[in-house]
Amino acid sequence: MKKMMSVTAAFCLMLAAGTPVLFAQEGPPPLPPPLSAAAQAAAVSGADPVARGEFLVRLGACHDCHTPVKMGPKGPEADMAKALSGHPQEAVVTQGIQLPEGWLAATSMTFTAWSGPWGVSFTRNLTPDKETGIGAWTADEFVATIKSGRKQGRGRELLPPMPWQQYQVLAESDLKAIYAYLMTVPPIRNKVPDPIPPAAPPAASPKS
Ligand code: HEC
Repeated sequence: MKKMMSVTAAFCLMLAAGTPVLFAQEGPPPLPPPLSAAAQAAAVSGADPVARGEFLVRLGACHDCHTPVKMGPKGPEADMAKALSGHPQEAVVTQGIQLPEGWLAATSMTFTAWSGPWGVSFTRNLTPDKETGIGAWTADEFVATIKSGRKQGRGRELLPPMPWQQYQVLAESDLKAIYAYLMTVPPIRNKVPDPIPPAAPPAASPKS
C-alpha cells in the first residue's frame, strides 16, 4: 500500500502569495539558469516564439507553482528534474486543512497542493506528456484556457491560486509563444490528482 503522507506534515502554513525563495536559509534556491543574452534578445523582439515563451514562463513565475519544491542543502528548492510537471502523484494528499483564524490558504511541502476555501487544488502538469500533461492540447485550447479560466476553454473552471485573470492581459501571440515553449520542455509522466472539494460544513446539531 502506498504510504500516505500525513496531512499535517504535508502542509506548512504560509501566505498564498509567498514564493519558495522565502524558504531559503542561505541564498536563493536553484532556479532554471539565467537566459543567455541572445535568448533574451530573441525573446524581447519576439523573433523566436519559443525563446519568448520561455521568457514569459520565467516572468509569469509558472515554475513557482508548477515545478515541485524539494528539500535541498540550503532549504526547499525547485526540483528541476520535475520542471513544470505539477503536483507529484506520489505526494498523496487526502484532505484540506482547517486553518487557524486569520489564515486564508496553505500550501504543501512541495508547493503544489493548495488548501483554501475552494478545497484543495493541485498544480497541473504543463509538460507535453500526452496522457498526463498538456501534450494532447492544441495551441488554441491552451489560449482558450487562459482567456476563459476553463480547461481547454470548455471544461471546469480553474481553481485558485492559478492566476489566469492576470495572464489574460497577454496577447494571443504571447500565449501561443508560451504554448510553443511548453511543447519543447521534457515530457514528464505525472498524473496530477483531481481537486478535492471543500469539506461540508458541520451538520447542525439535532434540536432536542
Ligand atoms: C500561484 C500559483 C500558480 C502560478 C504562478 C501558475 N499556476 Fe497554473 N495552475 C495553478 C493551479 C493550482 C492549477 C490547477 C487549478 C485547477 O485544478 O483548477 C493551475 C492550472 C493551470 C493550467 C490548467 C492545466 C490543466 O490541465 O487543466 C494551465 C494551462 C496553467 N496552470 C498554466 C500556467 C502558466 C502558463 C503559468 C505561468 C504563466 C502558470 N500556470 C502559473 C497554479 C499556478
